[in-house]
Amino acid sequence: TVLVVDFGAQYAQLIARRVREARVYSEIVPSSMPVEEILAKNPAAIILSGGPSSVYEPGAPTLDRALFEAGVPVFGMCYGFQLMAQTLGGTVDNSGAREYGRTDLVVSKPSSTLFEGTPAEQAVWMSHGDACSAAPEGFTVTGSTDVVPVAAFENDEKKLYGVQYHPEVMHSTHGQQVLEHFLYRGAGLSPDWTTGNVIEEQVAAIREQVGDKRAICGLSGGVDSAVAAALVQKAIGSQLTCVYVDHGLMRKGETEQVEKDFVAATGVQLKVVDAEERFLKALAGVSDPEEKRKIIGREFIRVFEQAQLEIMQEAGPEVAFLVQGTLYPDVVESGGGTGTANIKSHHNVGGLPDDIEFELVEPLRQLFKDEVRMVGQELGLPDEIVQRQPFPGPGLGIRIVGEVTKERLDLLREADAIAREELTAAGLDRDIWQCPVVLLADVRSVGVQGDGRTYGHPVVLRPVSSEDAMTADWSRLPYDVLARISTRITNEVKDVNRVVLDVTSKPPGTIEWE
Ligand code: XMP
Repeated sequence: TVLVVDFGAQYAQLIARRVREARVYSEIVPSSMPVEEILAKNPAAIILSGGPSSVYEPGAPTLDRALFEAGVPVFGMCYGFQLMAQTLGGTVDNSGAREYGRTDLVVSKPSSTLFEGTPAEQAVWMSHGDACSAAPEGFTVTGSTDVVPVAAFENDEKKLYGVQYHPEVMHSTHGQQVLEHFLYRGAGLSPDWTTGNVIEEQVAAIREQVGDKRAICGLSGGVDSAVAAALVQKAIGSQLTCVYVDHGLMRKGETEQVEKDFVAATGVQLKVVDAEERFLKALAGVSDPEEKRKIIGREFIRVFEQAQLEIMQEAGPEVAFLVQGTLYPDVVESGGGTGTANIKSHHNVGGLPDDIEFELVEPLRQLFKDEVRMVGQELGLPDEIVQRQPFPGPGLGIRIVGEVTKERLDLLREADAIAREELTAAGLDRDIWQCPVVLLADVRSVGVQGDGRTYGHPVVLRPVSSEDAMTADWSRLPYDVLARISTRITNEVKDVNRVVLDVTSKPPGTIEWE
């Protein structure tokens, strides 16, 4: 394992992903972890991430020198580089000239471990105020920029390396190559970590954890729960039962996809609960977005727990495990705890004992989203499930501005299906993050169709591009694709006589309208 020491500001996650792209397994540890503890994990190599601090600030994170003396290869990036320089006796000072964004790095030793085979000048991404002016003893300076005399240094004997810039970001054109040079040449690691290994490892771990007991898993139709379920199914087969709650707010074909394609691909035992009527009844007369979300969330838990109870009554008390599709970023963000947590299920349903505890099975805890997709693919799940774009839990319920009714849902389902079909046909699925279609149910506008006046509703197309949904930009879709979607929706969907395009980024707009 390569350990990435996290000095903050989200660089560590990207670095860990890049290391895995180089097919070497990596994990993140906080910079507050004592060095003995880091070394006790027996890392094959250590990477020190960038971070927002200055090594001079009082209270800035520091590192015990012992980390560099354990014989473990270390690669420092940005803040990690400066910390390494300072700790080992080099000079770091406030260069006066801050450097942010794209800069040219001049490689001064083209045959070095990090830079062999990369161009003598390469674009790199900088973000710092301090700079290293003298490398520690024993280090060779291998790169510089106009502003920074020491922008890269290497010590092959001690296997210590560092760069002032961020090799993990896309704008550093040869960053991945430099990182791979560290891993393969500097640290002597081989690129043999694959999602295939993950499946094998997880199957064994799940079998051991669950033993001969039973597990249940809620399927949402999304990628994470589907892949988690498929993995657990592979491990324990008929000891797993999946529950899928159809709240009637799904998109066209979605329930069938779970019922047919997912079951066909995995052979999983599936309990489908048709709860459309119940949800529509609970949502009747409600148009406030937050209220809708609360109602949908509450009903969902009730229905899910009822299904749980039924499964337990049939199967007996040995249902002890709940499968969840928790991903690595969630684990890191919630403090990076290890092992399995116990959760208590909250019960509002009469007759259910209020103290059942489920142990969690979280087979995707080590994985990033793109890795989850690869695992899903390898498990034989169809592309329609594995490559699915994000879809909110409350479904189409929060894409109808106004009250949610069956009739309106049917309209929106049609319009949404047309937009999806055309985007897929145009090969745009991977270019956009998602494209909500929103029905403005309380708005009417005048139109003309055939010879007659119409008075119908608009739908909004909200195509966005994003990396993590925290920020997003509206996607510049080709006009001819927009034209086809618009023509088809207004022709094929009764009562919709206008299609409009949302050209708002996030912020200020959110991706969903409600
Ligand atoms: P917003 O609208 O906040 O959406 O910009 C960000 C991302 O989250 C999805 N989203 C949800 N996903 N339950 C979910 O599982 C929800 O209640 C929910 N609300 C929004 C949204 O589709 C987008 O990808």
